Amino acid sequence: MIYLDNAATTPVLSEVADSMATVLRETYGNPSSIHAAGRNASKLLRESRETIAKHLAVPANTLTFTSGASEANNLALVGYALANQDKGKHLVTTAIEHPSILQTLSYLRDRFGFDVTFVKPLPDGTFPAHLITDQLRDDTILVSVMHANNETGQLLPISEIGEVLQTHQAAFHVDAVQSLGKLPIHPEELHADFLTASAHKFHGPKGIGFLYHRAGLHFDALIHGGEQEDKRRAGTENLAAIVGMAKAIEVTSQLPDKTNVLYTQLLTGLETLKAKTAQDFYLNAPEPHLSSTLNIGFPNVNHDILLTKLDLAGICVSTGSACTAGTVEPSHVLEAIYGKESPKLKENIRVSFSKRTQKEDIDALLSALYTIFRKD
Ligand SMILES: Cc1ncc(COP(=O)(O)O)c(C=O)c1O
Repeated sequence: MIYLDNAATTPVLSEVADSMATVLRETYGNPSSIHAAGRNASKLLRESRETIAKHLAVPANTLTFTSGASEANNLALVGYALANQDKGKHLVTTAIEHPSILQTLSYLRDRFGFDVTFVKPLPDGTFPAHLITDQLRDDTILVSVMHANNETGQLLPISEIGEVLQTHQAAFHVDAVQSLGKLPIHPEELHADFLTASAHKFHGPKGIGFLYHRAGLHFDALIHGGEQEDKRRAGTENLAAIVGMAKAIEVTSQLPDKTNVLYTQLLTGLETLKAKTAQDFYLNAPEPHLSSTLNIGFPNVNHDILLTKLDLAGICVSTGSACTAGTVEPSHVLEAIYGKESPKLKENIRVSFSKRTQKEDIDALLSALYTIFRKD
């Protein structure tokens, strides 16, 4: 099997799986228990938090572990909006965010009366910072913008937006799920007040992530109960997953990044394919964007059928985000760029690499596409 859907999830590294297995076998204590078994667990919990904090260059107590990025996004948005609504009820985001942002903000609008602005990109798909900062009002309390888009790999102008927000009351939340592990992420340099990440996007386990929150920010908890995570998120910690996430961040940040070489290889290969089969293609790639995600459109080729043919050939790619894959919903990201009626919404596939993807994986994809598109 050739796996080229790393924006949906990445394979767990063996070092990560080993670190988790050791915890599951040996460190079974509850980190809140005061006896030796509990102290062993709480030491590992503390060390893992410190490892991740060091990578982000932030204090360890500014990280809250969650069940993944969807929960971290909910915690930041719902927790902050509800706790700060006396300062205003206006929230700003983009129309191309992950559903865990879009649906959460819609919930705040529909159930709590917040006014939410969903900012669309320019017609060429680009997102200059002013599109977002022009929307700021005196009653804006929160701006949420993703660092890299999960469907196109587009990078949004986070530090520029953060810079403008320095002189505005609104808190700044950054969904860094698609960029952490690929780019160095330092929330303080980005002027982010909140930042979200998920371990399974950087070769860690699924079901674990974290929310960074600048020291002193006031936000409500969503999960109430015990006093874990400084009362910000109740529930016994998933220690094995947390240790795996810390290991994944350490190992992944050391891996060399060859994704720009793979990107060029795939583009060159697609040109050759076009010359051989007359199958045209284009990229849905508003600049700037990550070299690890290519969203490719093949004119007049239905992407569901193409995906199935590639799957039968042993190649895993997707038509969009994992959360919308398997449903008939067209991509809201491409819709924001091209409009609802565009045929482009039905002819794209997303190919996404990790630092472990090899040249041979791209060769296999190109060879499968050649078999599918050749006319003889
Ligand atoms: C940009 C972005 N945000 C949030 C999420 C949700 O992450 P999780 O699977 O950890 O809930 C994803 C997952 O695809 C994502 O790509």
